[in-house]
Amino acid sequence: MDGGAPDLAGLLERIAADVAPLIGSGTPAEYIPALAEVDPRHFGMAIADLDGNVHGVGDWRVPFSAQSITKVFALALALAEGGDSLWRRVGREPSGNPFNSLVQLEHENGIPRNPFINAGALVVTDRLQTLTGDASSELLEFLRAESGNPDVSFDAEVAASEHEHGDRNAALAHFMASYGNIDNPVPALLDHYFWQCSIAMSCADLARAGLFLARHGLRADGSRLLTRSEAKQVNAVMLTCGTYDAAGEFAYRVGLPGKSGVGGGIVAVVPGRCALAVWSPGLDSRGNSVAGVAALDRFTTLTGLSVF
Ligand code: DON
Repeated sequence: MDGGAPDLAGLLERIAADVAPLIGSGTPAEYIPALAEVDPRHFGMAIADLDGNVHGVGDWRVPFSAQSITKVFALALALAEGGDSLWRRVGREPSGNPFNSLVQLEHENGIPRNPFINAGALVVTDRLQTLTGDASSELLEFLRAESGNPDVSFDAEVAASEHEHGDRNAALAHFMASYGNIDNPVPALLDHYFWQCSIAMSCADLARAGLFLARHGLRADGSRLLTRSEAKQVNAVMLTCGTYDAAGEFAYRVGLPGKSGVGGGIVAVVPGRCALAVWSPGLDSRGNSVAGVAALDRFTTLTGLSVF
């Protein structure tokens, strides 16, 4: 990874041992029943270098529900396909509120604070739907291509579970539609959003899929998805907004752009070096994996690899 043949296997083993006491603490997401049933004792971590070589520890090959981690990839695709007019419909400031909060939208004319809270992600998916005609399938194909794993798939049980308990997301989408900030019919938009959130991937898949952000916008096949400047912008929004109302604490502890999901996964990027993914389903009160944040904290502390 840094030319000096670092012992990544040893590093990962050490991180896993360091965070072992935390594995199983926190609670798996309870508001989506299909996620509440996942064994909280899972832990996996993977590091992908710029050439796509992946090292891992623990459950790093076990697929789990990527959930909000997919919001990064959806944002990248919407920017790549539609350009930065997206930013007229969604902001780039941390919300300081829970990921599914409604409170700021009314005062801010239906424009969500950022693309990673649920309201902002719904706007991004809406844009991608307008641009492609099939937002969730576009995203799935992209994730299969970047991870190199054709088996990356939607999880129908999780999507159905989200649908059944989707009143909050439906409220967000309808409310933004009342401000003219949603272009597609809300039921179709919600379908794509729930399918998007249900995508199941392993740490190995996610670390590889995140590499285009470490490669300053270049995809696995060498083609360009984002300009260097756009890749910087996406990384910056991940740093400031990727872990919701805990983004300050995440930047303080980890010091990397990162995006979490309520499945217990987190993707983090070291621009110009590597991408990481970690998974452990026990969440803290802000919806971020307890052992996952701790593992990334150990990674940057032990290696000194941070954006700061
Ligand atoms: O919208 C939801 O409720 C979920 N499908 C995604 C939420 C999520 O992962 C937020 N993250 N920490």
